Amino acid sequence: MEKFNFTEYFKEKIEAVEETLIQFFPESEGYAKRVIEAAKYSVHAGGKRLRPILCLVSCEIVGGDWRDVLLFAAGIECIHTYSLIHDDLPAMDDDDFRRGKPSCHKAFDEATAILAGDGLQALAFEFFTHPSQVKRVSKTRLIKAIYKIAKAIGFEGMVGGQMADLLMEGQEGNTKILKWIHTHKTVKLIEASVVSGALLGGGDVKQVKALTSYGRHLGLAFQIVDDLLDVIGDEKKLGKRVGSDQKKQKLTYPSLVGLEKTRQLAEESIKRAISALSYFGSEAEPLRLLANFVLNRVY
Ligand code: IPE
Ligand code: IPE
Ligand code: MG
Ligand code: MG
Ligand code: MG
Repeated sequence: MEKFNFTEYFKEKIEAVEETLIQFFPESEGYAKRVIEAAKYSVHAGGKRLRPILCLVSCEIVGGDWRDVLLFAAGIECIHTYSLIHDDLPAMDDDDFRRGKPSCHKAFDEATAILAGDGLQALAFEFFTHPSQVKRVSKTRLIKAIYKIAKAIGFEGMVGGQMADLLMEGQEGNTKILKWIHTHKTVKLIEASVVSGALLGGGDVKQVKALTSYGRHLGLAFQIVDDLLDVIGDEKKLGKRVGSDQKKQKLTYPSLVGLEKTRQLAEESIKRAISALSYFGSEAEPLRLLANFVLNRVY
């Protein structure tokens, strides 16, 4: 099989997400110009756009039109970018590079980066409830999808996971705590990206269940591979520094079980993700390809 090129394969969708982000982003003008510029800087610095793609593809697989959920998908990318800006702050992971460029707080300053993250989180909910989004999908389903995302990123989701990730720095951990951290800081948003797309696309209970399982296993593999790439990755390709976890004495799979076992765990999660798709036929092929990309990615 020819090597799967994520950016090439999803080109049309990635471009549509990026156009939506440009079209609906507030103008950088007036007294708040600086913070809007900082947010734009991070949003457009690059990034795989994995989460919005998951939302769009999942919508399509259950029979929806992906163009109808573009604003929703763009909103998910705003949330993700906010999480990266804050994750890089000196008070958190203290990382100077992101998406191949100086991190937001380096290109601007800490206060601006904090505000840019805050603004992006709010902007996401503006996109989710934007009249242009509301008119294109069922309102009941839209509310369910927003609830799913909100729960995934708050105290019982990403924020909770980030808290535990910080508290475990330099501490002796175990795989139970680590899996909890991964599930909360990363998996829940990835799972919610898949599930929101399925809900908005009109998916039935069985389809949503199968895609929930896919999203969960894919998300786990994603963070396991992220930990692996922090040890064996190439900074140029990754667009962020390697060795950052070791420097911060983070609890990661490589630190806990070694590289070989880490790779095995990622493979197992990807197998489970692909198995969860057995409910679907060839229409789910993009998600199978995507799962293999997550396992073998170098960026
Ligand atoms: C990085 O996410 C943060 C994690 C949850 C591991 P991505 O690897 O998806 O970052 P971008 O969006 O491509 O920059
Ligand atoms: C980040 O995990 C998770 C979130 C941003 C919520 P990491 O701290 O491992 O992500 P990178 O390696 O900095 O991208
Ligand atoms: Mg972190
Ligand atoms: Mg980090
Ligand atoms: Mg990492």
